Amino acid sequence: MRESQVELCARAIAERLGPDSVVVVLTGAGLSAESGLPTFRGAGGLLGDPEFFEAFTADLLRRAPRAWWEIFQRLRELLSEVRPSPAHLALSDLEELLRPHLRLVIITQNVDGLHQVAGNRRVLELHGSARRYYCTCCGRPHVLLPERIVELPPRCACGGVIRPAVVLFGEATPHEVWQEAYAAAQRASVMLVVGTSLQVEPAASLPAVALHHRALVVEVNPETTPLSGAVRFSFRAFASHFLPLLVERLRGLLAQKMAS
Ligand code: OAD
Repeated sequence: MRESQVELCARAIAERLGPDSVVVVLTGAGLSAESGLPTFRGAGGLLGDPEFFEAFTADLLRRAPRAWWEIFQRLRELLSEVRPSPAHLALSDLEELLRPHLRLVIITQNVDGLHQVAGNRRVLELHGSARRYYCTCCGRPHVLLPERIVELPPRCACGGVIRPAVVLFGEATPHEVWQEAYAAAQRASVMLVVGTSLQVEPAASLPAVALHHRALVVEVNPETTPLSGAVRFSFRAFASHFLPLLVERLRGLLAQKMAS
């Protein structure tokens, strides 16, 4: 990744932005890789481990909730230790930078809640959140602190099994969140696509929606994806390296633009 290319990209983004513009950032597991969470695909990916693969199926949770929770507890432990990466923090800085005039919407496939921990306010969680829980029987929301779990699976006062509010394989993306994400992609002047292999629908279609509506789409990923050949800027880069550089460049350019 050459810095002159980042500069060029920042200029192209700044040119696109006007009053009321919407900037969308579509994120995936690569963004949290630098926080220490494994990705799904690729070397060391969770889906390569048959045990973790099962933990992402709604079927196992239904059939054997205790076994499902035993696997999920390991993910919960990982989650309790992670902190936002420089990439998450750069996106939070970007929201602050744009906020007086423009809107930043993050659409994430991640369930780790790290965008919110970093300080982003407008976050659409396409696959839900592993920081929220509800009863599979009565629907009541639950806060599950570690000491609250005395035996597995944790149960609601009504006797139902408690589960995280994440979308598992075999379950649909929540309709309302999807509608909002789709509308944001249609409205976007700029879309950054960061750390996702774009293998899972419907999220994988969002860059095409933005391109169709003439957004400037920028990809950041150390590997190529099906999007790479279709966009003007596709950076083979790590998010924690690229995003802070981009935001720093934009800071100067947007200050000039607002002043003129
Ligand atoms: P994947 O694991 O499929 O892809 C992660 C992407 O991040 C890959 O393209 C990597 O090249 C890239 N990557 C790795 N490190 C990076 C870094 N430091 N900076 C930038 N990019 C990096 O994860 P997702 O695309 O998020 O759904 O997967 C989408 C969905 O697949 C997940 O939300 C999950 C899974 O099925 C559900 O569980 C419902």
